[in-house]
Amino acid sequence: MSEFKTSILCIGAGYVGGPTMAVIAKNCPDIKVTVSDINQTRIDAWNSDELPIYEPGLDEVVREARGRNLFFTTDIDGEIPKSDIIFVSVNTPTKTFGRGAGKAADLQFWEKVARNIKDHAVKDTIVVEKSTLPVRTAEAISRILHSGPSDVHFEVLSNPEFLAEGTAVHDLENPDRVLIGGGEDERGQAAIQALVEVYAAWVPREQILTTNVWSAELSKLTANAFLAQRISSINAISALCEATEADVDEVARAIGSDSRIGPKFLRSSVGFGGSCFKKDILNLVYLCEHYGLDEVAAYWEQVVHMNEYQMSRFVEKVVTGSFNTIVGKRLALFGFAFKANTGDTRESPAITVTRRLLNERASVVITDPKAIPEAKHDLADVIDQVEFCEDPYEAANGAHAICVMTEWDLYKDLDYQRIFDSMMKPASIYDGRNILDHAALAEIGFNVYPIGKRALVNS
Ligand code: NAD
Ligand code: UGA
Repeated sequence: MSEFKTSILCIGAGYVGGPTMAVIAKNCPDIKVTVSDINQTRIDAWNSDELPIYEPGLDEVVREARGRNLFFTTDIDGEIPKSDIIFVSVNTPTKTFGRGAGKAADLQFWEKVARNIKDHAVKDTIVVEKSTLPVRTAEAISRILHSGPSDVHFEVLSNPEFLAEGTAVHDLENPDRVLIGGGEDERGQAAIQALVEVYAAWVPREQILTTNVWSAELSKLTANAFLAQRISSINAISALCEATEADVDEVARAIGSDSRIGPKFLRSSVGFGGSCFKKDILNLVYLCEHYGLDEVAAYWEQVVHMNEYQMSRFVEKVVTGSFNTIVGKRLALFGFAFKANTGDTRESPAITVTRRLLNERASVVITDPKAIPEAKHDLADVIDQVEFCEDPYEAANGAHAICVMTEWDLYKDLDYQRIFDSMMKPASIYDGRNILDHAALAEIGFNVYPIGKRALVNS
């Protein structure tokens, strides 16, 4: 007899699978949680002191549970038959080929996993969609799981994840809600209850929402679309602010004080990045087109277009502010991660900006406290044209301009007088995150170009 009341397996040990399972294991010592992946290097890292992803607070959570009721392995086939609940948290990138290329979700990894579960399960099992998936995927998954001769029954639930990177542990420990969608028959409801009991160990029951499976699947895509839409909306207004001398932060504060609008996610920026916003909106667009809802598709696609426009506007500003040429000029990018407190650079605006600056033949130097290895990987094809350095002072030394790409706290507290003294003149700062003290920088002598605010130009 196992000493644990339930065995959970998670397939996919990435940004979602690893932290989510670590928090379940920490809060449910009577449940055995095994996290698996095909990537041996990733699993080795989860078993070491150097975890494969950086998340504040994650080391402590993993240290507490690992070896007690949290295990990491590549033996997926060996674990499937022992598991009562199997979460699947593999990647679901945008398709790059064939039908729906550039928009639809690529479900090949998911299908492989479903077939694997079907082949190795020996008892009734709950299969949980943790990855973000197109609405109605559970139907296809269930058909795959039940194909062929077997008495094993699978109940498919949708339990999308809403954590944000950089605050994953906090978000998992204190979620606004946990969403569980499942079948409306008796078996479906029993499976939902089994998963509710897992989360109820630390999440208040009134925050655990249960729905039908399609609503849960669609709510995840919709949540990301709404969040990204807010950023594109405030970024659209930032362009108008620059044209009219309104200040985007003042506008955001004014509208955000309306309790119907609320203050969050109104920080104007060089654009949103991250592995999911663009991917999930394009997936939503594809679904709308599939159902013949072309106006709805066009409405959501505009959120992505606006984001691209914001990145283009930023580069345009750098070139115009540099007397219309940046050929051979040293430009220091402060930050490369798609947001602060993560080493993740997937879809980071810094990638687009770097490539466009290189196109203009600038000499680009990149600094970031966590993301330099990823930056080197993202820019592998142009690596000989880019310099990387850990130290922001060294990056700025001899530069014509600094471009703030990521809102790392450390950039707020640098000695900007020292930086100014080491730079070419006129020295400029393009603050793509509006995190610096613009008046103080202008006082030192910088030309300062924020987002959605009047530029402060000395020379
Ligand atoms: P990730 O790329 O970090 O991790 C996915 C893992 O799945 C990889 O380690 C990969 O090796 C593994 N994998 C792929 N195929 C496999 C297979 N056949 N068997 C076993 N392992 C396999 O991705 P992620 O960021 O964790 O995202 C996973 C899903 O969660 C995506 O659908 C994403 O949209 C969604 N999501 C991500 C976030 C986030 O903040 N990153 C938040 C919410 C939801
Ligand atoms: C986002 C969502 O916030 C999560 O709820 C969701 O689970 C996740 O996507 C996902 O499905 O992957 P994440 O991408 O990790 O999380 O980070 P966010 O904090 O949402 O930031 C996304 C991007 O928007 C970053 O580039 C950030 O800098 C930018 N942003 C955010 C702004 O430009 N302005 C803002 O006001 C907020």
